[in-house]
Amino acid sequence: MTGRFAFEIDSGDGDARSGRIFTARGVVRTPAFMPVGTAATVKAMFPQDVRDAGADIVLGNVYHLMLRPGAERIASLGGLHEFMRWPGPILTDSGGFQVMSLSKLRKLDERGVAFQSHIDGSKHLLTPERSMEIQALLGSDIQMQLDECVPLPCTDAEAERAMRLSLRWAERSRKSFAEAPGRAIFGIVQGGAVKPLRIESAKALSSMDFHGLAIGGLAVGEPQDVMIDMIRTVMPHLPEHKPHYLMGVGTPDDIVEAVMRGVDMFDCVMPTRAGRHGLAYTRFGKVNLMNARHADDRAPLDPQSSCAAARDYSRAYLHHLFKAREILGMMLLTQVNIAYYQELMAGLREAIAMRRLADFVAEIKEGWARGLE
Ligand code: GUN
Repeated sequence: MTGRFAFEIDSGDGDARSGRIFTARGVVRTPAFMPVGTAATVKAMFPQDVRDAGADIVLGNVYHLMLRPGAERIASLGGLHEFMRWPGPILTDSGGFQVMSLSKLRKLDERGVAFQSHIDGSKHLLTPERSMEIQALLGSDIQMQLDECVPLPCTDAEAERAMRLSLRWAERSRKSFAEAPGRAIFGIVQGGAVKPLRIESAKALSSMDFHGLAIGGLAVGEPQDVMIDMIRTVMPHLPEHKPHYLMGVGTPDDIVEAVMRGVDMFDCVMPTRAGRHGLAYTRFGKVNLMNARHADDRAPLDPQSSCAAARDYSRAYLHHLFKAREILGMMLLTQVNIAYYQELMAGLREAIAMRRLADFVAEIKEGWARGLE
């Protein structure tokens, strides 16, 4: 591994920025959307197609990989990059969020989260130290602290308890992070929908020598205006010269709104998951290919798309594949969606560089509102 982890801001427009994150395994252009590769695969896509769609970095998950096939096994097979044949940068989530949403039997205390696997019922303890150890075994380029994310709405007391626990886990995570050239660890702001808690969390994490800061605990059931309000609250308290990552977000519209407020990185299962359920994200908004209106439509989804799957197959054919539950349907729409998300990010980066973000956003929102032609 060579090089140092660094973030350079190349241009700005209002609060939005575009830049580059330098990691040991390559450069990430920001604002960036990171396709989710939970179980060492961006579901239904070849790694090279993910790359060709324009993605610089993908996400992996501690929770899934520690349970199957196991972090030590992946390490002995050469690390996650080699294992999944993705040579570019990988960010790994620390596991706490997935334990809380996937494992039915779990108990959280000061030490960490004890839980039973949703796969085979086996018992595990995930501490901040073990999460960092697993992320190092995987060979992750950007590692996340262990945190606790509470679903919204929640009481202020619950938000405060989880935020303070997450701060203590941030310190332990930072301390046990194995420093290596070009490798980074990010802290995660929590605090529910309570502004003073969010500000306190952001300030405390900003003083802790993380390489980047994430905003967690959003897109967990709250309306979009609450999410935007929390981003606006937190942003002035994050170091300007470090990457800002909004976790688990979101729809194209959420992403655009967050970029305008200074967010640099995103991840979400939405484009891949929607693609497996017959939903396409396009310049014309969201299109449900299951709908009978497409049954006789010879037109492709978008003749101007950079993605062959959107250009070369008729809507009628895509509709048929989903009605017949053919695997190719899922593969094609996953490509369409990842390509659209990457096209959107490229458009945002270019618009920021040209200082025409407001016009660009107005144009794309108009396209979404117009619908399919
Ligand atoms: N993914 C989406 N939201 C969160 C969060 O709050 N914490 C973590 N670790 N991952 C997330």
